[in-house]
Amino acid sequence: MASNDPQDSPVAGDSPEEQQQQQQQQQEEEEEEEEEEEKKTKKESQDESPLSSPVMTSDPSEPGRLALQQTLFQQILNGKLMATQIPPPPKTSKPAVDPNVISSGGSIYQVLDLGCGSAKWCAALAAARPDIAITGVDMSRVLLPARAPPNVALEVEDVRKTPWSRGERSVDFVHVRDMGAAIGGRKGWKKVLGETWRVLKPGGLVEVAEIRPRWWDWKNHVEGSEESDDSQVSEMEGEDWLEKETPDYKVGLAVAKFEKLFHGLGKRAGIDFDSAPKVPEILRDAGFVKVVERTEVLPIGGWAKDEKLRVKGELYLEMLDHGSFENYSMKVFTQAGWKEEDVRNLIDKTSRDFHNPELQGYSTAVFITAKKPSRAA
Ligand SMILES: C[S@@+](CC[C@H](N)C(=O)[O-])C[C@H]1O[C@@H](n2cnc3c(N)ncnc32)[C@H](O)[C@@H]1O
Repeated sequence: MASNDPQDSPVAGDSPEEQQQQQQQQQEEEEEEEEEEEKKTKKESQDESPLSSPVMTSDPSEPGRLALQQTLFQQILNGKLMATQIPPPPKTSKPAVDPNVISSGGSIYQVLDLGCGSAKWCAALAAARPDIAITGVDMSRVLLPARAPPNVALEVEDVRKTPWSRGERSVDFVHVRDMGAAIGGRKGWKKVLGETWRVLKPGGLVEVAEIRPRWWDWKNHVEGSEESDDSQVSEMEGEDWLEKETPDYKVGLAVAKFEKLFHGLGKRAGIDFDSAPKVPEILRDAGFVKVVERTEVLPIGGWAKDEKLRVKGELYLEMLDHGSFENYSMKVFTQAGWKEEDVRNLIDKTSRDFHNPELQGYSTAVFITAKKPSRAA
């Protein structure tokens, strides 16, 4: 959502050098701010943050949510498995690869899926492309399936710990989906995308895909809170708006409050739950080229007239209704000191808003694709 804030535009009359300097200064300031926040919360390392660990991995509802999400992502991409175009199979396509030879490189196209979870994406790609080798890594075994297709290898690895076990220049395509909360912010993305650069072959590709945890109102063009700072959260925590159903209560108010609190509490814990917008710049800074950001509207529920959007919206709402949204929110808020009954109250009201067709709420799915230059070291 583009900002209309005039302060976001460079001052008229500035030379390109000055504008570049200003941008650089702004970025440095942002980074300093972020580091300050991390120090403030005494959570300099993400490893120490209970929220950045895969809190949902062992939740019984998570496999079901991931299955819904796999279908949803494919619908958003019109049946495709990714926004990136990987080379087509060679004319003399070989049958499925033996997993024992997957890591040996050679001429087989190598794909690495970071935080593969239940490996639904790996399995779908493996079925569509028996000529390529896919390695899914996850820091936990909990969601990994017991059996994988012959051209899929599943490994346990924490992607926040570098260097990864993959050798440099050994991978053709790195796929990172629904990992924003796990990677947690600019610092985490810099590390993960820096390591992605190392393992990619020159000319290799990377894709980051996320459904942003933001909810906007289509009808009124009311945007959610892109920024939620600590003082706003403290203010809201002090309010008793949850208790009273005031006459001026508007549809969407609970969603807007939920969103502000959710992101504010995440920030307090040193996590950026909506870090995808930072990814393009981090990719460019790391040296990637052809950085392209594709954004797709994702309605909440079946309010859209367009048939495809309606189907996607219904599926997205089904995913939000699925236990994981509730359970994850419960963890985030109670770990921040909220009482369980207050969180339940907030979740119920938020869910009621999600289901109210008057809201015409929507989120967005983003796909950021990039390439390591062919002549890169
Ligand atoms: C929300 S799921 C996404 C699964 C999959 N990418 C998908 O789109 O279906 C996040 C997964 O990342 C894993 N994960 C979280 N932090 C990780 C880390 N530091 N290293 C590797 N895997 C991690 C979790 O165990 C979980 O399986």
